[in-house]
Amino acid sequence: MATFIVLLGPPGVGKGTQAKILSERTGLAHISSGDLFRENLKNQTELGKLAQTYMTKGELVPDDVTIAMIRDRLIRPDCKAGAILDGFPRTPAQAEALESMLQEFNGQVDTVPVIIVADDELVERLSNRWTCRASGHVFNSKSNPPKVAGKCDFDRSELYQRDDDKAETVKHRIQVYMDQSLPLISYYRDRGKLLEINGMQSIEAVNQTLMEALKK
Ligand code: AP5
Ligand code: MG
Repeated sequence: MATFIVLLGPPGVGKGTQAKILSERTGLAHISSGDLFRENLKNQTELGKLAQTYMTKGELVPDDVTIAMIRDRLIRPDCKAGAILDGFPRTPAQAEALESMLQEFNGQVDTVPVIIVADDELVERLSNRWTCRASGHVFNSKSNPPKVAGKCDFDRSELYQRDDDKAETVKHRIQVYMDQSLPLISYYRDRGKLLEINGMQSIEAVNQTLMEALKK
């Protein structure tokens, strides 16, 4: 049966950073709902234009649109063995939809690590984040600087600061997480799938903690 890992945690906690490393180390595909929306935006698709109206405000894109996009991604061949889901599900309705989609694809959610850090650390991490245009690799001018300023280490593409990383929007995104995504913690805890991960460590140490926890 295919293995799906759902990474939970508020904006800026390090989901994308950890998902990329986990994907390299486990061979599972990395699916980031935010990256998929940003890719659509870059290509000026109808989906991208619609998503942008929510993303710039720090609001969630409607469930039906998001679920349909993830369904299209899950049917791709690289998800046969499973995937690491980063940013999806984000509402109870998305979690229910994921469960029924995975049944169809002969998979299930195995474990749900939730990364935990202090609130002021989230704001600090996001205000210093730099993201690569080509494929969404993330850096941090303080904690994880690129080798060459302004250039991605992996594909040399330009680094930019996300529109929704402005202080005001970040605060709103954290509030939206509290209001709409926090119920997922008890949803997965009740199903015996939740793993709490201390995110107040270096990127490598968080990854070691995650790998150890996933082995068990
Ligand atoms: P999305 O792109 O998913 O943003 P997010 O959840 O707000 O999360 P972030 O990407 O901001 O943070 P992250 O946890 O990935 O942290 P990162 O690894 O980059 O979503 C954007 C928008 O799209 C949403 O607001 C919504 O509009 C829409 N959307 C997406 N999914 C949706 C859904 N399912 N339903 C509806 N709408 C949806 O790390 C952050 C920074 O910290 C980086 O600079 C990194 O280098 C640094 N860092 C990472 N780890 C550490 C560490 N251990 N120590 C020090 N620094 C670290
Ligand atoms: Mg991310």
